[in-house]
Amino acid sequence: MRLQNKIAIVTGAGSGIGRGIALIFAKEGAKVVLADWSEKGGKETTEQIRAIGGEAVFVKTDVSNASDIDKMAETCLQKFGRIDILVNNAGIVKFGTLHETPEADWDAVLNVNLKSVFLGSKRVIPEMLKEGRGKIISTTSIAGLVGFENVGSYCASKGGVIALTREMSLEYAKHKINVNCIAPGIINTAMTKDMLTDPAQKKFFESSTPYPRMGTPEDIAFAAVYLASEESDFVNGHVLVVDGGWTAK
Ligand SMILES: NC(=O)c1ccc[n+]([C@@H]2O[C@H](COP(=O)([O-])OP(=O)(O)OC[C@H]3O[C@@H](n4cnc5c(N)ncnc54)[C@H](O)[C@@H]3O)[C@@H](O)[C@H]2O)c1
Repeated sequence: MRLQNKIAIVTGAGSGIGRGIALIFAKEGAKVVLADWSEKGGKETTEQIRAIGGEAVFVKTDVSNASDIDKMAETCLQKFGRIDILVNNAGIVKFGTLHETPEADWDAVLNVNLKSVFLGSKRVIPEMLKEGRGKIISTTSIAGLVGFENVGSYCASKGGVIALTREMSLEYAKHKINVNCIAPGIINTAMTKDMLTDPAQKKFFESSTPYPRMGTPEDIAFAAVYLASEESDFVNGHVLVVDGGWTAK
């Protein structure tokens, strides 16, 4: 198994991509702390992991709140003794033209998608320094690489995740802490459900994705397993694009 006895925290593990990552991590032998603000989703993922014989604990967490992040890390340390892997994955999107975007929407998206990466990384890095190694993986988006209309706050937050990934990768490489991110294309999850049921948007997504299907949470989870495992020890500050070819054009 590729993550045998590793200890991982996955945020946004109550749904979609985060659930897919948590499940595959457990299948690969990791013990997983599931952090999500949805108790229902978190408990469902916990049950799914236990059903396949894995070990998981759920912590209700708002990733934009420093004391919740501290509780998440403390739970992991108390339950499993250390933190090997942090996946900063929780995220939200809000739609609208930039000039009509309420300031509160901007703040919410930046806090959940970008500030969370700062808070989570800041909290776990001292633990990883003690261990002399670690893996930090964040879920950005192709919206951090190319423009999309009507999601200004989302694009800014995901571009910020890429910039912060590169910064942290330089700062902590000497301590054998790898910091990378994954940029998914369009993945079939709760976040994209409405878009994928709208015929015009579905057509746009399909015509923009060279590979002849939409992505699945497992497509992203397989990339996360690679970045979490020792196979990727020499990969640092990388944006691993998993988009069916959208941005290759
Ligand atoms: N689905 C896509 O097409 C796609 C594409 C690119 C990037 N992403 C990114 O992937 C990540 C996961 O998205 P998804 O598609 O699985 O969406 P999703 O809505 O299925 O899952 C997001 C999860 O994050 C949780 N969450 C939201 N805000 C939170 C908070 N403040 N604290 C804790 N948990 C919170 C939700 O409860 C949910 O369980 C996000 O960062 C998203 O931006 C998704």
